[in-house]
Amino acid sequence: MNVLVVGGGGREHALVWKLSKSPMVDKIYCAPGNGGIANEAVCVSIDILDFAGLIDFAKRNNVELTIVGPEVPLTQGIVDAFEKEGLAIFGPSKMAAELEGSKAFAKDFMKKYNIPTAEYSAFANSHEAKEYVRKLGAPCVVKADGLAAGKGVIVAITEEEAIQAIDEIMEDKRFGDAGRQVVIEEFLQGEEVSLLALTDGNTVVPMLPAQDHKRIYDNDQGPNTGGMGAYAPAPICDASMLKWVQENILQPTVAGMKREGRPFKGVLYAGLMITNKGPKVLEFNVRFGDPETQPILFLLESDLVQVCNSVINETLSQIDLKWHQGHAVCVVIASGGYPNDYEKGKPIIIGEMPDSTKVFHAGTMVNNGQLVTSGGRVLGVTSRGETLDQAIKNAYKSIEKIYFPDMHFRRDIGAKALG
Ligand code: AMP
Ligand code: GLY
Repeated sequence: MNVLVVGGGGREHALVWKLSKSPMVDKIYCAPGNGGIANEAVCVSIDILDFAGLIDFAKRNNVELTIVGPEVPLTQGIVDAFEKEGLAIFGPSKMAAELEGSKAFAKDFMKKYNIPTAEYSAFANSHEAKEYVRKLGAPCVVKADGLAAGKGVIVAITEEEAIQAIDEIMEDKRFGDAGRQVVIEEFLQGEEVSLLALTDGNTVVPMLPAQDHKRIYDNDQGPNTGGMGAYAPAPICDASMLKWVQENILQPTVAGMKREGRPFKGVLYAGLMITNKGPKVLEFNVRFGDPETQPILFLLESDLVQVCNSVINETLSQIDLKWHQGHAVCVVIASGGYPNDYEKGKPIIIGEMPDSTKVFHAGTMVNNGQLVTSGGRVLGVTSRGETLDQAIKNAYKSIEKIYFPDMHFRRDIGAKALG
């Protein structure tokens, strides 16, 4: 069959690469793709929000399965639009994608269904938000309600910082409409885990727990980024914790969404904080995580087409998800300056890689036959190993064969799990 992947980052490259291993797949298209995806798929320059254009392309090219990477098309209803035309597509409906699209919705939902999360209150009025901050005290967390490309969350150490964040979001409209409401949350302490689960609306099957590294510098210093590296499985989320999260977070969420008339199909991504009172939900995402998907799919043995079809056809209970032994690590190489301003167009050199490594591309493009940088996160160097330690060593050894001017990467991806 022909398949279409929507998006153009490291996550989408990992999806395309995994699809290319499926004997069920004839042709892979990716809109818009990137310089590395172009080696494994036909890249088509259609905007990810041009639903009519994507639908037209899918029909004309006999696309029988579409997989959506990023959150914005999902929250804007790409799945509803494809399904209306009778096209098979992997991802949640617009109504279900509210779990990521509105933090106020997600928090109210969690409260209603007793899903463990930080204490909170949501406000459409900045004075009331500030009063609540004064009552709650610092540290606390201020979140813009809507999508803000991962930048709408401010962990405020002092009350002043929280008040300033409220002003920036609600008065200065730094994130536009996404800041019409704010959520103010209790500050949670602990280690974070990304638990991505497949669900067909009834059955929930967790994938390997992963850990992201959000800060730009080693030892979790500096500003937040989209994610500077990830590894899986994350040993902090062992079998008994996984079972607990399955029973107390994932299943109640999927059952609750069904009761709300918003049945959820696709990947439910629970961002968890492992507190001393147990795991609590920091946020839900309604899609594959990036970079987490890179190490996770590198370890997935099962056929991705079969898995996606079983979600779409609501037969996930019949699938036995299989994983390769061992561990995988993805180290992101970013443009110098990211997450702030950076230059593009730097020529990239990638040497020959061992079988244990796959270099997934994010911000790359081919310009006159030369691979160059075109974004903040440029490459996701993903390696396998029998042990986590070996996977880490393999990834960093592979990076020695990669160069572009001003490249920046963290040197401690996965180190936390080694103790
Ligand atoms: P979110 O997009 O809601 O996951 O927030 C982004 C990041 O902010 C998370 O990965 C955490 O590092 C941090 N964060 C969010 N909520 C809280 C909280 N209640 N307590 C502490 N840190 C938080
Ligand atoms: N790695 C975080 C995310 O995908 O949102």
